[in-house]
Amino acid sequence: MDNQTAIDFELYDRVRPIRWDGQALHLLDQRVLPFREEQVVCTDSDAVAHAITELVVRGAPAIGISAAYGVVLAANAVEAANGDSALKALEPAMQRLHDARPTAVNLAWALNRMGDTLHGAGADWREQLVAMADRIAKDDLLANRRMGVLGAQMMQPGTRVLTHCNTGSLATAGFGTALGVIRAGCAMGRIDKVYAGETRPWLQGARLTVWELAQDGLNPTLIADSAAAHLMKTGGVDWVVAGADRICANGDTANKIGTYSLAIAAKHHGIGFMVVAPASTVDMNTPNGDAIEIEERLPTELLSVGSVRTAAEGVAAWNPVFDVTPAELITAIVTEKGVVHAPSVATMRELFPQDV
Ligand code: MRU
Repeated sequence: MDNQTAIDFELYDRVRPIRWDGQALHLLDQRVLPFREEQVVCTDSDAVAHAITELVVRGAPAIGISAAYGVVLAANAVEAANGDSALKALEPAMQRLHDARPTAVNLAWALNRMGDTLHGAGADWREQLVAMADRIAKDDLLANRRMGVLGAQMMQPGTRVLTHCNTGSLATAGFGTALGVIRAGCAMGRIDKVYAGETRPWLQGARLTVWELAQDGLNPTLIADSAAAHLMKTGGVDWVVAGADRICANGDTANKIGTYSLAIAAKHHGIGFMVVAPASTVDMNTPNGDAIEIEERLPTELLSVGSVRTAAEGVAAWNPVFDVTPAELITAIVTEKGVVHAPSVATMRELFPQDV
């Protein structure tokens, strides 16, 4: 079963993190999963920005889509005769959405597309904004399905994979990026075993990824992040499959903290390291990983597990939540436009001749 149409994608699309009802944005609150399924309903753009900062919605594509609908909500407060006047009035709200999180480029990418839509638009600029937000969401789902098949085709039957963070339906419009490859690989009979790292400190792997996969009946196995190198050494994994928050012009890739350690360990053990991300995550304007702003979040995320304090009072903690994996540690970057093998400035340029 090697072609896209052979996969029944509906079987793998049970979770939706974002729903636009025409008036409000409904976000599945990822802070309380997997034990409670609650929605946060945003009726203005600042509520969307706040939800992004607080990780109600998270994952690079999902925050881009949410920000796009945030612009639609901001437009409710604007009276303008044409798109250019509307854009001027919307700039402060768009800046607040932009600043909600710094590392994932999908946020700026989505806002740029919304801004471009307004340039030169006439009296129907409002309708055009909604149409663009819908399109960003729809295109993301299609990209994920395409990448899923492309990535899975690189795997032999019987493959065992390890993934990190949450890159699934929860992090996207649906299906997922790295988790989309895993879903497609399972559907195509190529993946036998899925390990997920718990992803300290926010536990996206433990709280979200294994929950999502279990809903699809894919029987994931959770490991402590610190067990990954041992799993590789003992021959338990053939591919590491990760997502991305920003991919630079030379292939350096920012993703959830801990990804870099996995890539080093994979290289040491001769295991493939696959990055899966839509073109909206590729930032050809950022030359290399040194130029990426790495988000640091509050030490409290690290000093406790959930609401239970685990470190002594008064202890300091440093909490960078992304790291950069150098291109030379990456076997392949899978996008909906195709696969970049052995990423470098030259191989990235072949697929992305211009900024996307
Ligand atoms: O801090 P988060 O949970 O938003 O980080 C998410 C990740 O790092 C994902 O791996 C990345 O955004 C890709 S999601 C398809």
